[in-house]
Amino acid sequence: MAETIVLERRGRVAWITLNRPQALNALNEQVMLEVTATLLELDRDEAIGCSVLTGSAKAFAAGADIREMQPQSFAEMFGTDWIGGWDAMTRVRKPVIAAVAGYALGGGCEVAMMCDIVLAADTAKFGQPEIKLGVIPGMGATQRLTRLIGKSRAMELFLTGRMMDAAEAERLGLATRVVPAGELEAETMKLAEAIAAMPLQAVLMMKEAVNRSFETPLHEGLLFERRLFQSAFATEDRTEGMTAFVEKRAPVWKHR
Ligand code: HXC
Repeated sequence: MAETIVLERRGRVAWITLNRPQALNALNEQVMLEVTATLLELDRDEAIGCSVLTGSAKAFAAGADIREMQPQSFAEMFGTDWIGGWDAMTRVRKPVIAAVAGYALGGGCEVAMMCDIVLAADTAKFGQPEIKLGVIPGMGATQRLTRLIGKSRAMELFLTGRMMDAAEAERLGLATRVVPAGELEAETMKLAEAIAAMPLQAVLMMKEAVNRSFETPLHEGLLFERRLFQSAFATEDRTEGMTAFVEKRAPVWKHR
């Protein structure tokens, strides 16, 4: 039974709320284990087509848990590969939307970037303040944020530790869209439901192909995409989707 998150099933959408309000959803080892295990389990759940990860109105997550880190030595951090388990997020196959209100700092911003789409409330504040603690990001920001917004902008954020507001995050491409805080939940649900209603096999192929673009040279990525595109012709939903178009009717998906 998870203690640091709340999982709700809302139709085909899994709504996961980080739930450590006393620590602004700081990410300790338990949060990491519960979030990753839950998302991987939802991959195997036929009733779910899309997950949402969110926090509270004040904080999506204010970073890795500094109290958990503070007493640790190099030998302990290295030996346990502390927070290394977040890598499991890259094995999640169904789409995950980060719905961010309030602080998304350090590891919080990094977890948002591990998701597939980031929707931001106008109260969202993103940043990588690790420099002010004498460390650097450890859950992907030097790689993911740099690829997302470019070296100069990323470097400025890393080296000053300053926060950016939702409008800046949207302008730089970190957030897909900014919505009024009071509408974040409804807007996120609308998006998640739309994705969860799509043919699942094509959804999984899409996510795999997009993520492959970060890992491969262009010609390999293009070939990977084309082979997946061709593989889609082996699915019943490809037949249904194109037949429905030709017959001028709505498709009835077999695999969602
Ligand atoms: C542990 C945290 C925390 C964190 C907040 N809290 N952030 N506990 N780890 N990252 C706790 C506070 O200690 C406090 O507990 C309670 O949450 C409320 O926080 P306040 O500071 O009182 O709130 P406020 O004044 O509103 O300030 C909000 C804030 C500030 C600006 C977000 O909390 C803050 O700067 N937090 C740290 C942000 C940060 O540096 N994050 C990066 C962490 S490093 P008590 O018990 O006192 O009420 C990181 C590295 C990732 O993420 C890579 C892995 C190595």
